[in-house]
Amino acid sequence: MSPEPSRRPGIAVLGSGSIGAAWAIVFAEAGCPVNLQDIDAARLESSRRDLRERLSDLARCQLLDEPAEAVFARIRFLSDLPGALANVAYVQECIPEDRELKRSLFADLDRLADPATILASSSSFLPASAFADGLAGRSRCLVVHPGNPPYLLRVAEVVPAAFTAQAVVERTMDLLAAVGMGPVRLRREIDGFVFNRLQGALLREAYCLVRDGIIDVAEVDRIVRDGLGLRWSVVGPFEAADLNARGGIAAHAKRAGPVYFRLGTDRGQNDPWDDKLVAKVTAQRRAIMPLEDWEARVAWRDRALMALLRCRRSDSAFSG
Ligand SMILES: NC(=O)c1ccc[n+]([C@@H]2O[C@H](COP(=O)([O-])OP(=O)(O)OC[C@H]3O[C@@H](n4cnc5c(N)ncnc54)[C@H](O)[C@@H]3O)[C@@H](O)[C@H]2O)c1
Repeated sequence: MSPEPSRRPGIAVLGSGSIGAAWAIVFAEAGCPVNLQDIDAARLESSRRDLRERLSDLARCQLLDEPAEAVFARIRFLSDLPGALANVAYVQECIPEDRELKRSLFADLDRLADPATILASSSSFLPASAFADGLAGRSRCLVVHPGNPPYLLRVAEVVPAAFTAQAVVERTMDLLAAVGMGPVRLRREIDGFVFNRLQGALLREAYCLVRDGIIDVAEVDRIVRDGLGLRWSVVGPFEAADLNARGGIAAHAKRAGPVYFRLGTDRGQNDPWDDKLVAKVTAQRRAIMPLEDWEARVAWRDRALMALLRCRRSDSAFSG
């Protein structure tokens, strides 16, 4: 849901590369005035062209509530940092993944931005404690990590450092929810956050399978695209396991846990699903969905997969 027109905050997006340009769409689409800033004038110019194209693609797919031009008109393209920070309540930093670059920019931001402005980084791997720890205003700094591109993958990880103020986390969560980004808050900083830890676990195994000559690259991609990935676009890995076994996730863990543990030890990992952990996961799943609803939810999952398959078959966007 978009914020109320009178409450739409000004946003600065710093760095107009892949992620910055995509964040600009998220905020502008929700009605926020956006200052998109980059130190590279040529990059800014190509983002201007690129954003027009992406917005018209979104309009063609009926994913915009208003004309593409109206969304585009909310984005200003700027090269100077102080200008970009004027009248903004929130900064989304999107410069390269380089600790010293981020450290230097955050020092400038802390000096130049209004003290009430939240300073969020799109960093994929660097936590805020790695580049904002020495700042006087570090309590307003945190990571908001999106998938690529955020205007299509509508979820973002909110990763506060130990020094981030609770009120800043809450305001960030509220803003992200208001612009339709489905924020997920991590309880503490962890290397790689969650998105990339999950992605990395699968990719590590995929590399091993190709290395060992079990399968080739295109075949791994097919198994994920047409199997695991298709299912994961409807349910996550815990819900998938819950719905794959009569008796739910506890039954699944009993049956598959020892096998998955053995596959992990083959790769030098030692993380058994012990009784206490399985009980914790089971309790959380049962709070979301009682076992009595299992059959109905399986039927729902299958209908959702049918809708996706129908879309894949009928929409020319999927050919290629
Ligand atoms: N690409 C992804 O899939 C992805 C996904 C999630 C998060 N991220 C994170 O987002 C951030 C940006 O990644 P990207 O892929 O968009 O990078 P990119 O290289 O496409 O874009 C970076 C932009 O920042 C600009 N820039 C450099 N220094 C600057 C400064 N001091 N001030 C303003 N602009 C500056 C560059 O000119 C460039 O246009 C990184 O931290 C990255 O880890 C990337």
